[in-house]
Amino acid sequence: MPEKTDFAERYASGKTPWDSGTPSEELLRVLKDGKLTGSTALDFGCGTGTNAIELARRGFRVTAVDIVDQAIQIARDKARAAAAQVDFRVGDTLRDDPGGPYDILFDRGVYHCLRTEDLKAFQEFLKRATGTGSWWLSLAGNSKEDTEPGPPVVSEQEIRAELGPLFDILDLREFRFTTNQDGFRPLGWSILMRRK
Ligand SMILES: C[S@@+](CC[C@H](N)C(=O)[O-])C[C@H]1O[C@@H](n2cnc3c(N)ncnc32)[C@H](O)[C@@H]1O
Repeated sequence: MPEKTDFAERYASGKTPWDSGTPSEELLRVLKDGKLTGSTALDFGCGTGTNAIELARRGFRVTAVDIVDQAIQIARDKARAAAAQVDFRVGDTLRDDPGGPYDILFDRGVYHCLRTEDLKAFQEFLKRATGTGSWWLSLAGNSKEDTEPGPPVVSEQEIRAELGPLFDILDLREFRFTTNQDGFRPLGWSILMRRK
């Protein structure tokens, strides 16, 4: 089992390669394709809020949650500067009430962490936060590439076994994450799903 990341320590020390400061190219592609319809969105494990703010900018009513207070403080400052309305909350996706059900869930780099922390609690969260027809775009590390120095990784077989019972997996494709380190673009899975 991979070692649990101390995210508060990572934000405090600035070791946050995922925090690219630009909206996810993969999220933008899926939005452009006309998927992710609806009005409410939850970005869980939102970090410093770049993608939540982008969704708000495009007219979604966005709730965004992260377990690290420092990340949420930065996210709130960024939203204020961008005049974007996002309901940013400090919270634990595995334990706290997520609200909802939401039309859209989005996560970048969170399913691949929480699946090894407590898969059952994570699946319960998914059930509570979605209803039939809810979309979920998840961006996760891909086991076809070494985990070091990249994100935690997951295989296609694991994705289908863990998420397939609750969601139709509409598109499962490879992509590369953007990071804040030049040339560091770990391989990922882009998983587009709809709740059964
Ligand atoms: C790899 S980072 C990605 C952050 C953000 N999604 C992004 O793309 O910049 C994973 C994020 O999940 C958050 N996180 C980890 N466990 C969490 C939990 N149980 N509940 C809420 N957030 C969590 C971390 O604090 C961190 O911000």
